[in-house]
Amino acid sequence: MKTMEWRDKGLDLLDQTGLPQAVRYIRCTSAEDVADAIRTMKVRGAPAIGAAAAYGLVLGTISLECGEQAEFIRETEKTANMLGSTRPTAVNLFWALERMVKAARMAGVEKPAEIKELLLKEANNIFREDLEMNKKIGMYGNKLVPNKAGILTHCNAGALATAGYGTALGVIRAAHEQGKEIHVYADETRPLLQGARLTAWELMQDSIPVTLITDNMAGYVMKKGLINLAVVGADRITANGDVANKIGTYTVAVLCKEHGIPFYVAAPGSTIDMGLESGEDIIIEERNPEEVTGIAGHLTAPEGVRVLNPAFDVTPNSLVTAIITDRGIIRPPYKDNLKKHYNKEGNNGLYNKGYKACTVRETKNRLGKGTHAGSE
Ligand code: MRU
Repeated sequence: MKTMEWRDKGLDLLDQTGLPQAVRYIRCTSAEDVADAIRTMKVRGAPAIGAAAAYGLVLGTISLECGEQAEFIRETEKTANMLGSTRPTAVNLFWALERMVKAARMAGVEKPAEIKELLLKEANNIFREDLEMNKKIGMYGNKLVPNKAGILTHCNAGALATAGYGTALGVIRAAHEQGKEIHVYADETRPLLQGARLTAWELMQDSIPVTLITDNMAGYVMKKGLINLAVVGADRITANGDVANKIGTYTVAVLCKEHGIPFYVAAPGSTIDMGLESGEDIIIEERNPEEVTGIAGHLTAPEGVRVLNPAFDVTPNSLVTAIITDRGIIRPPYKDNLKKHYNKEGNNGLYNKGYKACTVRETKNRLGKGTHAGSE
């Protein structure tokens, strides 16, 4: 099963909103199609969003008919800004777009037709390299997984969220491939149920033993002694090792600390944002309140209730036992140790300034004044 595939001047995307009931692909033939797929989460997961956006940029430039290089670059930047306005938290989106725009600027050729070819090559590289990085994450992460381990994971950081293999699920896959008798406990991950719909499905496809639990059962299974480690993915890791990931990740990390269970984060270099000092500066996407007031279109709360719906939270570095990357396992102190491996990479700050949302710091201020409600 492929999350996405470039085919004949178009991008086929597995529509993840239909899973697990329907395995259907949508065809994107314009940058707008891809932007819409990212916004509506037909494609989701930080690295997958980045790769899809890179192909989106290719689609945006394919039909450009400007004869001049400068004009072509300007149009490319415009399309990148449009694609970058879809979701604010995962840095992979901006990382991929920046890499694409840079490739166009540095092309060393003058004819737009040649730049177009280079852009497609770059998008293919982003896709291919992501898969390779995930395999490395799996290889390193496997060393942290004891035989017969019970492993808790949250959201979906699997093949569906990446170019393939997965980050957190890459670690799990590698351990399974090594013949370890592991058992995964997948948090269902409200409100959009990525754990139930995607992780449970993905693991079952590969015959990796999995038990689905609701988010509020995580403490219970830990107390019962069923969990030896937790491993999750990330949407953005800042220079000090703070980790933005799916809402509820922070709760899992706190529970791990209480129970003395290692809490690991698995992520490629494209998720590391050395341009942000701490998680306080990460923009947290706020999504439609209807995701909270209902499940699969069925209303489960009183109409008109005030809702808060942040899609991500930030786990402070103090709760992170280690970060499993494509360049090895990084341990505290993260400020020093991340720098050794990833200085300046993933640094952006360029595109997400256009997104109308606020950083963790600003959200706190708004909440402090009691003015924030997702339904407003
Ligand atoms: O809102 P989503 O489904 O895009 O959120 C996905 C996550 O939070 C993943 O854990 C993260 O992107 C890492 S995917 C390898």
